[in-house]
Amino acid sequence: MDATRKLDKLQSEIEENYGEKISALRRDIHREPELGFDTEKTAGKVLAALEGLPLEVETGVARNGIVATLRGGGEGPTVGLRADMDALPITEETDLSFASEIEGKMHACGHDGHTSMLVGAAHALCGMRGGLNGTVRFIFQPAEEGGGGGQVMVEEGAAEGLDSIFALHLWPGLPFGTVATKAGPIMAAADAFEMEVRGTGGHGAMPHLSADAVVIAAHVVTALQTVVSREVDPVEPAVLTVGEIGAGTAFNIIPEKARIGGTVRTLNEELRRKMPGRIEGLARGVARGMRGDATLDYRFSYPVTRNDAEAAARALETAASLFEGKPVLELPNPSMGAEDFAYFLQKVPGAFVWLGVGEDVSGLHTPQFAFDEKILPRGSALLAALAL
Ligand code: NI
Repeated sequence: MDATRKLDKLQSEIEENYGEKISALRRDIHREPELGFDTEKTAGKVLAALEGLPLEVETGVARNGIVATLRGGGEGPTVGLRADMDALPITEETDLSFASEIEGKMHACGHDGHTSMLVGAAHALCGMRGGLNGTVRFIFQPAEEGGGGGQVMVEEGAAEGLDSIFALHLWPGLPFGTVATKAGPIMAAADAFEMEVRGTGGHGAMPHLSADAVVIAAHVVTALQTVVSREVDPVEPAVLTVGEIGAGTAFNIIPEKARIGGTVRTLNEELRRKMPGRIEGLARGVARGMRGDATLDYRFSYPVTRNDAEAAARALETAASLFEGKPVLELPNPSMGAEDFAYFLQKVPGAFVWLGVGEDVSGLHTPQFAFDEKILPRGSALLAALAL
């Protein structure tokens, strides 16, 4: 088919033919957010919205994930399009008419949008099946926000035989409708650590008879700030954040133990592997110097999300030919956030692409996050065009 000719009208066609369906699905998913791998109802809504399309549907991948395949004519490539379906443990604070009805759960990362945009793309591409040269695989995954649903889907074969793969993420802070990506790393590796700091407990009035775990932990947290500032090459991005600290039971007791938890973000695999050794060495040195000790439990989690250079360039070119005004941006820098689409990109060349929802939209993972639904048909059009 003449893909360029099709692209001109793609967004308006999707808006007219599927706009209401996409928005209705988004609202339905938004009302009933589900966490982690427990996206059974969400998957049911996706399946209902795909009903009647000429797709080969596989369910139960990574428990509640869905892989739906559209076979066009011809011997063209197999392209994967992936969306995430899970929500976050946040209580929603928007006044949307379709706000979360489930206390403590909210679609605060836009995955309700990603999922319905992909359903919209499936409808649009199924409508052009006759002229489609190749195969499109629609991948709906659970457990992006921790749990590594993407990794499980890849292990269960969702990326087998793909020639390329793309995914979108709605992005506050970028002008509305702007399509942004870059070659190479776009999101960081996100690892986690927990540390137990041990001293010896005692009476608050007799510190000389104990080793104070609170004071040791405070020094460890301060010393950890030197890992990035003094041990990492200044032109190499890295983050070490202590997000949790806890100890003690009463004002007049010196506790025996303290607990510290944090995250480490890196873009460089060699540096990533060095971090636990430096953190442990420094923490134990500080703790032992104060007559205590520390143990580190370090968990390597999502790897770097690394875009293929050609796929990233193609995504930007596609967006430029698809949308008037060519609102595309080649990102100068990656985000130090993380994304488990990384596991798909380890197997298949492709690109993770950000779609701007505006500069004055509350950030991802905030209780006020809400976006203008006009972005949905635009995202569907971009996904469909990337497959084309
Ligand atoms: Ni997300």
